Amino acid sequence: MYIRELELENFRNYEHLNVSFSRDINIFLGENAQGKTNLLEGIYLNAVARSFKTQRDREMIRFGQDYCKVRAVSHYDDEDHVSEIVVSREGAKAVKVDGVKISKTSELLDRLHIIVFSPEDLKIVKDEPGKRRGFINRELCQIRPGYVNDLNTYRRVLRQRNAYLKEERIDEAVLEIWDEELVRSGARLVRERRRFLEKTNEISRDIHQRISGGREHLQLDYESQIDAEGGEEEQFLQLLRESKEKDRAYGTTRKGPHHDDIRICADGVDLRKFGSQGQQRTAALSLKLSEIRLIEEETGERPVLLLDDVLSELDNERQKYLINSLGENQMFITTTDLMGSVARALPEGKVYKIRQGEIDIEI
Ligand SMILES: Nc1ncnc2c1ncn2[C@@H]1O[C@H](COP(=O)(O)OP(=O)(O)O)[C@@H](O)[C@H]1O
Ligand SMILES: [Mg+2]
Repeated sequence: MYIRELELENFRNYEHLNVSFSRDINIFLGENAQGKTNLLEGIYLNAVARSFKTQRDREMIRFGQDYCKVRAVSHYDDEDHVSEIVVSREGAKAVKVDGVKISKTSELLDRLHIIVFSPEDLKIVKDEPGKRRGFINRELCQIRPGYVNDLNTYRRVLRQRNAYLKEERIDEAVLEIWDEELVRSGARLVRERRRFLEKTNEISRDIHQRISGGREHLQLDYESQIDAEGGEEEQFLQLLRESKEKDRAYGTTRKGPHHDDIRICADGVDLRKFGSQGQQRTAALSLKLSEIRLIEEETGERPVLLLDDVLSELDNERQKYLINSLGENQMFITTTDLMGSVARALPEGKVYKIRQGEIDIEI
C-alpha cells in the first residue's frame, strides 16, 4: 500500500498544497517550524481519521479559517482510492472514501495501514504505563476493527461509572449494571491485548537479538490484574466487587485494564526500572519494528511509515538497521539536514524542501 497524492486546504500552516509522492522513500527536509510534522499529520489523518498530535480535531484548521480539508489518492487492495476528510470549526468531521460517506472510523481503519514513529516512541520503555497502553491500543485498532468499538465502549462506561461513584447516594443495582457492561468490553480488551503481546513477543525477540548484536534476550509480558485466562469476565467482576468500597472512597475505578502495563525485560532485568538509556532505546526500537512486522503478518500488506525526526536520534548502526529492514515500505521521513549520517542511511529518496507551509522545491 502507498499514498500517491495529497492535497491540503487550510490545514495547519498550509493554505493550499498539492503534492505527489514516491512509492518508496520521501524525505521532507526543512528548518524547524516549517510544516514537516504537519505534513505527516495530514497524511496520517487521511488514513486514520484522527491526528497523532492532538485529540482536538479543530486544532488542525489553519488559524483564522472555518474548516480544513485533506484529500488523498492511495493505493491498496490492488486499486487506487480517493479519501477526503473535512473538519469544520464546529467540530464536525466528514469522511468520504471513493465518494461514499463513512460514518464509523472502524471502517476506515481497516483499509490503509499507517504507523508513526517519533522520538517519543523511543521513550516508551521508561515512560508511564499509559504510554505503553496507548501503544497497544493504537496497534490493535488498526488490525482488529472490533477492538476500537470495545475500547470506546469501555472508556464511555468507565467515565459513567466514575461519575456515578462520586454521587452521594449509590444504588447497588445501578452500579451492578455499569459493572457488567464494563466487564464485557474490558475482558475482551484484556484477551486481545494478551494475544497481541504474545505475538509481539515472538517477533521482537528475533529483532532485538539482531539489533543488540545477539547479546540480549528480550521478553515482553502483559501485566494485568486480570490474569485468569478464559475466566477474565468473572475475575474482573469479582475485582470490581471487592474494591467497591475503596472505589467509592476514591471516586474512581481502581481495577481494570485501564491500569495494565507491558513488562519489558532483557535477560530477566525489568528495563522499565533498571535499564540503561541505551537498553531502553534499543528495546523501544525492537518494539516499534515488531509492531510494523505484526501489521504485515496480520493484514498481508506493508504499512506506510511516517518517521518524524527519528533518524537523527539513532546512531549509525541502528539507522542502517531500521532503513534496511523497512526497505519495501513506503516511507515519509522528516529531517532538518541531509548531511552526515542521515544522508548515508538514505542513499535514495525523493526530497521535498519544506518552507513556511509550502514545498519550495522537489529535489
Ligand atoms: N492550526 C494552525 N494554523 C496555522 N499554523 C499552524 C497551526 N498549527 C500549527 N501551526 C504552525 O505550524 C508550525 C509548526 O509546524 P511543524 O510541522 O510542527 O514544524 P516542523 O517543520 O518543525 O515539523 C508552527 O509555526 C505553527 O505555528
Ligand atoms: Mg516536526
